[in-house]
Amino acid sequence: MTDTPTIDPAAPQVVPFEKPVAAGPAAAPRVLAIANQKGGVGKTTTAINLGTALAAIGEHVLIVDLDPQGNASTGLGIERKARRTSTYDVLTGAAPMRDAVIQTAVPQLYIAPSTMDLSGLELEIGQQRDRAFRLRTALNNINNINNGTPAFHFTYVLVDCPPSLNLITVNAMAAADSILVPLQCEFFALEGLSQLLKTVEQVKTTLNPKLSIHGIVLTMFDSRNNLSNQVVADVRQFMGRKVYDTVIPRNVRISEAPSYGKPVLVYDLKCVGSEAYLRLATEIIQRERELKAAG
Ligand SMILES: Nc1ncnc2c1ncn2[C@@H]1O[C@H](COP(=O)(O)OP(=O)(O)OP(=O)(O)O)[C@@H](O)[C@H]1O
Ligand SMILES: [Mg+2]
Repeated sequence: MTDTPTIDPAAPQVVPFEKPVAAGPAAAPRVLAIANQKGGVGKTTTAINLGTALAAIGEHVLIVDLDPQGNASTGLGIERKARRTSTYDVLTGAAPMRDAVIQTAVPQLYIAPSTMDLSGLELEIGQQRDRAFRLRTALNNINNINNGTPAFHFTYVLVDCPPSLNLITVNAMAAADSILVPLQCEFFALEGLSQLLKTVEQVKTTLNPKLSIHGIVLTMFDSRNNLSNQVVADVRQFMGRKVYDTVIPRNVRISEAPSYGKPVLVYDLKCVGSEAYLRLATEIIQRERELKAAG
């Protein structure tokens, strides 16, 4: 990892907005939804740390926290009182996405935070005809100049989904170019995967024809555990090339970092967890290049 810019752990909590870019239509970011209806498999950890790693290698990243638990927001050090405009406000149409976007302590990494209000979304908009397209609409033109305010120039949007296949997750899938699925290296890893893949197919046929599975990332791998090795072999056999080469190890630094409100790459850049997320970011960019080349 010689060509990777380092992140200053003492980076200030508040950094000024980046310079505005020229007016006019801007390129749309790639939108990746990080989804798995199973709880605790590493969705939020991946959103935070992949987002940080992508930003560290030059991308401009927005994390959209679509989980009412707000773990991505907390893990990036965004206090509850700082979440003045949340993804609930955005999805209910009360505020534009740009109003929710907060810059994090990591350069080039931003977050649209969530609050518990989001758990009431289905009640609020469940009867509306455009209920599944709220996120897609909100992300539309996110990079364009708006009323003279500084423009964002996001290249990636990572959507952290809740552990459910509800309207929130459907919004993420309807807005996404691609889905990234974290799978925990445990005995029941593949359980529920077929249901997730079925939902992706349904969304593809009814709401979002361009949707694809970007890849599957194996998380919390423990090399001392035979079961972990067996799970990796099984998942690779079942899902083939969709599984990223990079496997995220179980690493105590990864689990400690959120309580300091920091991504692991800021908390301990040299640990194996940070290295793994940097490798994953590089692999994702490589896969994006291949997808583009394939047309
Ligand atoms: N590679 C890892 N090594 C050690 N601990 C990890 C690792 N990845 C995640 N964890 C820990 O496992 C727990 C679950 O991770 P995380 O919150 O990312 O999962 P999730 O899929 O977002 O959960 P939920 O479904 O509740 O949203 C957290 O306490 C997290 O710190
Ligand atoms: Mg989560």
